[in-house]
Amino acid sequence: MPTLTRKLTALVALAAASFCTQADAAEAQLRLDAAAPGPVINKNIYGQFAEHLGHCIYEGIWVGPDSPIPNTKGYRNDVLAALKNLGVPQLRWPGGCFADEYHWMDGIGDRSKRPSMFNSHWGGVVENNHFGTHEFLDLCEMLGIEPYVCLNVGSGTVQEAMEWVEYMTSPADSPMANLRRANGRDKPWKVPFLAVGNESWGCGGNMRAEFCADNFRRYNTFVKNYSDVKVQRIACGASADDYDWTDKMMAIAGKQMNGLALHYYTLPTNDWKGSKGVATGFAEDQYFSTLRNTLQMEYLLNKHIAIMDKYDPEKKVAMVVDEWGIWTDSEPGTNPGFLYQQNSIRDAILAALNFHIFHAHADRVTMANIAQMVNVLQAMILTDKEKMLLTPTYHVFEMYKPFQGATSIPVKLLTPDYAFKDEKIPAVSATAARATDDKVRLALVNVLPNETATVTCALAGLDAKSATGRILTATAMDSHNTFAAPDTVVPQPFTGSVIANGKLTVTLPAKSVVVLELQ
Ligand code: AHR
Repeated sequence: MPTLTRKLTALVALAAASFCTQADAAEAQLRLDAAAPGPVINKNIYGQFAEHLGHCIYEGIWVGPDSPIPNTKGYRNDVLAALKNLGVPQLRWPGGCFADEYHWMDGIGDRSKRPSMFNSHWGGVVENNHFGTHEFLDLCEMLGIEPYVCLNVGSGTVQEAMEWVEYMTSPADSPMANLRRANGRDKPWKVPFLAVGNESWGCGGNMRAEFCADNFRRYNTFVKNYSDVKVQRIACGASADDYDWTDKMMAIAGKQMNGLALHYYTLPTNDWKGSKGVATGFAEDQYFSTLRNTLQMEYLLNKHIAIMDKYDPEKKVAMVVDEWGIWTDSEPGTNPGFLYQQNSIRDAILAALNFHIFHAHADRVTMANIAQMVNVLQAMILTDKEKMLLTPTYHVFEMYKPFQGATSIPVKLLTPDYAFKDEKIPAVSATAARATDDKVRLALVNVLPNETATVTCALAGLDAKSATGRILTATAMDSHNTFAAPDTVVPQPFTGSVIANGKLTVTLPAKSVVVLELQ
């Protein structure tokens, strides 16, 4: 598990400073410069993560073809439809910590004959391997998702990894490709992304960075490209503020890798050993601390990227934030090893703040994976037997779909503070981009729990006449969707914007996320 040193107060002040300029007035001012486009926001920033953990895969995605829950070839229909609508660009699997104890050959062939294994990391349950390589890659293919497969470096072998990649991607008349054919799949799948191990500094093998970097070079040598699609190889990256890890990985293996990972989880309390904080029923102290802590992503990225720039000034190596999101205490009454937590408007706001940070680093951060897709940590979807609900985080991902592949537009923001006790963070956050449909999108967040924020925007280089869009907001800081009331927090048409004399004025209700289309 990632650990985070306790320098937060100072760090957040710095993060806030680099995020925006502080204003004295209670209103925010924004300047958007449409004539000076920035880098493209890679669609893969909106990636997801599905691990063999709790009910993410089993019950969340996969119920098996014989289930009474309506399914298509074993995948539950309601979840398939929700994911299709979300436009998931890429999906990381099978872990997480699970990846470094996963042996892919146990998950192919006749399901009834697949051996079981003990899932030692997550809840101590028996994994029946019914969801394996074919089930994962077929899911991706059905939904138009690019697979991001994490190799087993911790307890696996180089041979096992190279054979897996041959199995998945080789079009040749070769042993592993023929085994795939014998298991019913003729054509190779496209697998554009490979992670070489997960958290090798911890659950992935407790390695030192030097050893991990050398291991990366070794795996990279033997894991081949079997088709003309060159597989992007992503090295295991640091936890949170472990800058030394990034330095060593870049120094030793920077020339060989296509991407370097970073894991940073937001904990309301920053306490990994005690209570991490609650998912619902929190007071303003945890609302504030959660958003303060998540803004640390900005500071962490600046520091890690500065190290990467030293070794790779041309920015050839991507920063891949392949685990992020809020991690709270598990829901009372659930298996604590299943990491099942509720998800509120606070968490949707947290997600939007992170999107804005990723957009601001689009020239280096080209992939990210929120943890996790269904029923685990900051999930998009929660299920309970045949029931399913979409979380506020699902809705915010859906609202930001136009930012996938959009060209960023620089914004300058002067924002009031959100002050709580003796600390403060910016009250408003903004990001803008020209989407692939050529329309400009502006996203705004007001983190203030009880106050409206008004944003006045100068639209340089843009002759917009109208601003239309949607808002996600709620009455309470912990408003969330339940199986009994699944539509408590859902996007609504937004009517709080007006353009007059070339200026856009937006009135943001308390704790809201707004995405506008400017035309
Ligand atoms: O996402 C849950 C776990 O968090 C992952 O398995 C691991 O990589 C991280 O510690």
